[in-house]
Order: sequence, then C-alpha cells, then structure tokens
Amino acid sequence: MKRMIVTGALGQIGSELVVKLREIYGVDAVLATDIRNTTDSIEPFEVLDVMDDKCMHKLAKEFRADTMIHMAALLSATAEKNPLLAWNLNMGGLVNALEVARELNMQFFTPSSIGAFGPTTQKNNTPQNTLQRPTTMYGINKVAGELLCDYYHQKYNLDTRGVRFPGLISYVTPPGGGTTDYAVEIYYKAIEEGQYQSYIAQGTYMDMMYMPDALQAIIDLMEADGSKLVHRNAFNISAMSVEPSELAAEIQKHIPHFTLSYKVDPVRQAIADSWPNTIDSTAAREEWGFTTQYDLAKMTIDMLEKLKIKQQKKAIS
Ligand code: SER
Repeated sequence: MKRMIVTGALGQIGSELVVKLREIYGVDAVLATDIRNTTDSIEPFEVLDVMDDKCMHKLAKEFRADTMIHMAALLSATAEKNPLLAWNLNMGGLVNALEVARELNMQFFTPSSIGAFGPTTQKNNTPQNTLQRPTTMYGINKVAGELLCDYYHQKYNLDTRGVRFPGLISYVTPPGGGTTDYAVEIYYKAIEEGQYQSYIAQGTYMDMMYMPDALQAIIDLMEADGSKLVHRNAFNISAMSVEPSELAAEIQKHIPHFTLSYKVDPVRQAIADSWPNTIDSTAAREEWGFTTQYDLAKMTIDMLEKLKIKQQKKAIS
C-alpha cells in the first residue's frame, strides 16, 4: 500500500494531484504539504518549506511515507524575475527531497518541463534525447534536476521517475508565473469578458496538455514496471501543440463573439521562442504506455463548461 508525501500541494498541479491520489490510494495515505497554510479542509496537511530538510525528513518519517512527489518549484517567468531565488528554491528543494527519499528509501517523482530545452534544440518533433542548452534559469534548474535524479538512481539505486511537462491547462487552480499561463487565462477571460489580450505572439507554438491527462501520466509512470524504464526522469510528453489564434478559433466555436488581441510581453515571448514547437512523446508511449484523452477540441468543451459552472457558483455566493 502506497503512502505519499506531496510538496507544493496547493500549487497548480499539486492541488488537483492530491485529490486524485486520494481517490486512488485513500485520503489518509496522502500527506499534502505546502509553504502556504490553507483554511480548506484538505487534511492530512502540514506546512512545509522545502528548504527545511529536517522538517521534510520528520514529516515523511512520521507519516511512514514510501513515496515522495516533489512539486514545489518556481515557474519560468517568476524564475526569470528572481534567478537566484529560483536557483536556491528549485535546486535546494529538489536536493532536500532527494536526500529525504534516499534516507527513507522512498519512490520519487518530480516534474521536468519543455523549459529544459533551449534555442539550439531541434524545434519540431523534439527528440527524447537531444541537445539541451536552455537560456532561462528555470530551464537550467530543470536540466540539472533531470541529471540529479538520474544520478540518485545510478548512485543510490533510488527509484526516481519524471516527465517533461508541457504547458498545463486546468479550470481548478490557476498557474502562477509560467510562460504558458496564457493558454489558461484565455479560457477564463473568454467566459468573464468575451475577449483576451495575449502576451504571447500569434504563431508561437508550444506543447500543451489538459490537467486530467497530466495527472494520469504521473500515476501511470509511478505504477509502471521500473525494469522497463530507460529514460527515468525526463520523459517527453505532450497532448497538443498550439498557438494563441488556434486556441481562440476553438473558443469561438462555442463563444462566437470572443475576440483575441495581442500585447506581447518581450520577456515571456523570448522564453517561449527558446522552447520547442512540438516534442516527441514516443519513448513515454513505448516504455510505460503514455496516452492522452484530450485534444484541443475536447479540452475546450470541458474547460468552458467547467468555468461557466464556476462563474455561476461565484455569482450565487
Ligand atoms: N508551464 C511552465 C512554465 O510556463 C512550463 O513548464 O513555466
């Protein structure tokens, strides 16, 4: 029976991942932790700053956790604003989580990202194994993280696993400080205002995925037969490659008066331009059966439906 500790549990992925893990493994088997406290009833919950290795060790030990899901990190645009903080938090938090997992012999998951690629990487159908010279602090953290997780597996035989997530789209918890956040905001604004001003330019393709597929990918990879995993810590995974006007056209099928305009943010545009247009997920499909349920059309229907319900509930309360 798995017992898990999740860091960054109030974040964009963590908040939904905890719910899903609890559905599968039981509420009491998943300890949610975050640097922020919450008034929501999501017990078991503990406040944890991932820079505090002793507290992390104590919580994991007392909970008798056998699995560490390390999600706490700064996203790309925030990291670019404060690179030293990003280095300290993203790398310091990761090495603490790996050390706790090593000391307590836990299975380990942490996400990498399409941000682990850079401007010199092949842009279309980016291979699993390829040139990685990212030009952002976030990307540097992600490449170092992939290597560090490989190292802990080779050196200590720790069962480390991970994926390179594309931009994740969800109606539950908004992302904070990412480059791909526009692809979430566009849906909120479509419902709330019928218009959106994109900070990413027309024609800028990036990989994306709907959150249910991302959560399923984490679970499938963690449940996969370890002996079949060659690329343990950095599986390319993607569900779609889109640019702003394609998202807008899909939204217009349901909200015909929706309009899209552009006011490009040079910082986030430069980050987006340095990332791939599409990545190749073949290794993930072959080694652990990665698959997705949502394409752009299906995701758009679900996002708009769920956000409308959310808006109605907000109007009532
Ligand atoms: N969604 C992330 C970001 O934009 C990419 O991993 O920072």
